[in-house]
Formats: sequence, structure tokens, C-alpha cells
Amino acid sequence: MSLEIKNLKKKFGERTVLDGISFIIPPGDILFILGTSGTGKSVLLKNIVGLLKPDGGEIWLDGEEISRLSEEDYFLIRKKCGMVFQHPALFDSLTILENVAFGLRRHYPNLTEEEIRTRVKKFLSLVNISDVEEKLPQQISYGMQKRVSLARTVAIEPKVLLFDEPTTGLDPVTTNAINQLIKNLSRTLKTTSIVVSHDMHCALDIADKIVVLDKGKVVEFGTPAELKKSKVKLVQDFLAEVH
Ligand SMILES: Nc1ncnc2c1ncn2[C@@H]1O[C@H](COP(=O)(O)OP(=O)(O)OP(=O)(O)O)[C@@H](O)[C@H]1O
Ligand SMILES: [Mg+2]
Repeated sequence: MSLEIKNLKKKFGERTVLDGISFIIPPGDILFILGTSGTGKSVLLKNIVGLLKPDGGEIWLDGEEISRLSEEDYFLIRKKCGMVFQHPALFDSLTILENVAFGLRRHYPNLTEEEIRTRVKKFLSLVNISDVEEKLPQQISYGMQKRVSLARTVAIEPKVLLFDEPTTGLDPVTTNAINQLIKNLSRTLKTTSIVVSHDMHCALDIADKIVVLDKGKVVEFGTPAELKKSKVKLVQDFLAEVH
């Protein structure tokens, strides 16, 4: 499924956060978004899933302009386009199993209890989690909560996945497992992915294209090889970190 952003604008009061962002992602591609803290990366993803409404511009998903849909229509969009949030935001009073099952029950009402359990376990194991299905979120570590929230979104099997810093704060082994998972989803299920990340090393390794944002604008866009030759100072600063 393709995703195209055209001249997207978003202000909070007088402060312009997104100042005309445009890019296109072909089906099955992995796009990394890099940018310093506070530059509008999370705001951009929230506009795509309809949690924030843009002040201008268009968002095209699978040939449909989705930025002005009603809340009911967004329910259907979220089955096609899922977001993994920067902070886990699990339901405190639901077990890990029920947290992951929640979206599955809503989007796939015909699944049996057994099918739901099987699916929950499969996606938890993909993010290296086992034996905590009956625990509550506050009984597991932050890094585990982050992985559960990733499993919860991926279990719905959307064709477009948005990951907001999926590996920030995780150990190197889990970071690697999650990066491989993103790569495998894109290769085997042809999922189109956007990954917001500070991890230039990983971006160069698994991205098809990289967008660099600065002060609400796209300052660089290209393949990892193209990025390595960039003349843009901010890009060079990001690259310096991997040498
Ligand atoms: N709901 C909101 N209301 C008002 N301002 C907001 C809101 N959400 C975000 N902002 C502002 O928009 C700017 C961009 O925020 P955003 O969270 O997108 O940054 P980011 O690039 O994701 O940063 P980080 O790398 O730290 O996660 C910030 O100045 C933030 O304060
Ligand atoms: Mg953010």
C-alpha cells in the first residue's frame, strides 16, 4: 500500500511545527525519518493516523485522501495503517494478553478465543516476550511494555506501519530483534513502513529511503547511499555519529 504526503502543514497556536512536508513511499518500502528532538516527527505520524488534523495539505493512503475523514472512517483506516507510539500507553487494568488482544477483537470479531491467544503469543514471541501474558503492564519493565505495544499494533497486520522510535531506550539485542522484525514484515508481508528513529546506523542498514526533517521542513530525502553524500550540515552531523 502506498502513502503520499503532500505539502502537510500543522500549527499549534502561532507555532508552525510542520511547514509543508511532502514525500511518497511506494508499497513495501521502509522510510526512515530522522530529525532533532522537537522537530515534529511524532506530530507528523499522528496526523497520518488521524489523531491530529493538519491545517493544510493532503495525505493519500492507497489512493484515498484521508486527512479529512470522520472518526468512524478512521476506524477502518487504522486497520490498514497502524501506529506504534513512542511511549507504550498500554491499558493499566488489562493483562498483557488482553492488551494485545484488544485491537484484534475489535478489528477481527470473527476470531475464536483460541485463535486470538495463538495470535497474541505469536506476536509477543516476535518481539522476544514470553511468559508474561497474565501480568499487568506495571509488573513488567518499560522496555517490555514498549515491545508489547509494538506487538499490539503489528498483530492487526496493517499494510502500513508507523513506528515512533521503536528501539529508543532498549538494549542492543532487543533493538536488533525489532529492526529485523521491521525488515521482515516489509519483505514477507509487503508492509509499507515509516520508522522515526535517531539510529542512523540502523537507518543506513534497513531503510529504502530516508527523510531528514529540520524546523518543519524536509531538508534531505534519498536512499542511504545518496544520504551519505549529502551536503546538508544536519545530515553530516547525524552521519558523524556512525563513523
Ligand atoms: N498536542 C500538542 N499541542 C501543542 N503543541 C504540541 C502538541 N504536540 C506536539 N507539540 C509541539 O510540537 C513540536 C514537535 O513535537 P514532536 O513531539 O512532534 O517532536 P519530535 O520530533 O517527535 O521530538 P522527539 O524526538 O523528542 O520525540 C514540539 O514543540 C511540541 O511541543
Ligand atoms: Mg517524538
